[in-house]
Amino acid sequence: MHRALNRALIASALALTTSHVLAADKIKVGFMLPYSGTYAALGTAIENGFKLYVAEQGGKLGGRELEYFKVDDESNPAKASENANRLIKRDQVDVVIGTVHSGVAMALAKAAKSSDTTLIVTNAGADAITGAMCGPGIFRTSFSNWQPGYAMGPVAAAKGHKKAVTITWKYASGEEQMAGFRESFEKAGGTIVKDLTLPFPNVEFQSLLTEIASIKPDMVFAFFAGGGAVKFVQDYHASGLQKSIPLYGTGFLTDGTLPAQGDAAQGLLTTLHYADGLNTPRDNAFRAAYAKAYNNLQPDVYAVQGYDAAQLMQSGLTAVQGDISDKAKFRDAIRSATIDSPRGKFTLSAAGNPVQDFYLREVSGKENKVVDVAVKQLADPAKGCKL
Ligand code: PHB
Repeated sequence: MHRALNRALIASALALTTSHVLAADKIKVGFMLPYSGTYAALGTAIENGFKLYVAEQGGKLGGRELEYFKVDDESNPAKASENANRLIKRDQVDVVIGTVHSGVAMALAKAAKSSDTTLIVTNAGADAITGAMCGPGIFRTSFSNWQPGYAMGPVAAAKGHKKAVTITWKYASGEEQMAGFRESFEKAGGTIVKDLTLPFPNVEFQSLLTEIASIKPDMVFAFFAGGGAVKFVQDYHASGLQKSIPLYGTGFLTDGTLPAQGDAAQGLLTTLHYADGLNTPRDNAFRAAYAKAYNNLQPDVYAVQGYDAAQLMQSGLTAVQGDISDKAKFRDAIRSATIDSPRGKFTLSAAGNPVQDFYLREVSGKENKVVDVAVKQLADPAKGCKL
């Protein structure tokens, strides 16, 4: 009787130890992303993209299996530090993948830096993350907010536009994207006559559209994304303003949103580091694989940024043969990697931000069709970064 019990106890203790060793063998990846709210679809696309690349590698990166941890950050900056520490302190992840919202991402970057946890930012453009807050373990597969805004200035000026009104949510991302546009538009001879904002994630646009109608600028430049972008593009179209005051934006305005925006989005011109119809073997293979893996869903820029985060990890882990505890070597390999992205090949700046082409795209049907390269190999100025 006792012996049987002992044997059972020993057996279960052994099983526990074995499963413990196996679990410890896996690399812990924490997704801090929005799974609810106006950016919910963006978070899902990032996770989908990441997992597609891992699946393509047979479920492993650098020969190691992955264990996932997830937090819904709700794009809420007030809860960001607490949410970051759920992954960093409670779950003790090796790498954090996230997030979408710039305000949330700044708190996340602070938590990652102070705990020396590797962070790969898969969307949020907050300039400071690869500027004054940069660090050896902080990387981005997306963009700095300055970049896509800056890319539109010369395009708008070349269309003959002189006076622009900007409109966006009042938080770091909107303000920094508008600042990027202002810099290059003014350099090309344009003037911003008014900056309009509303609090994130509000979508009551009517009074602002009335103000645009009374100002009568040559053009409007906008940043909204996700659910808010769907509503803004529909409201702008319904207002009838588009005929006399063309709408432009960073590509987030129309990325992942076209099935919902329908007719309202047709013909819109935007700038972004990804586009439909690139028609490269790399992008075609990625798009086919994504559609196959996710029930015919079409990939967007967010899916690409998630996919490339897994590619960055793969570069780092290959260099250390899966030994992620060799942090310095893992990170150096990431920083010097050339990523064969669906968007086109890119490298990271010293500050850890992609140096990449920005495309001019035009909405046609459900696609952001590539028209041109607006700016080649655009590097963020990385103000305040000493790396
Ligand atoms: C941001 O907050 O940095 C942000 C969010 C959504 C986007 C782009 C940037 O589509």
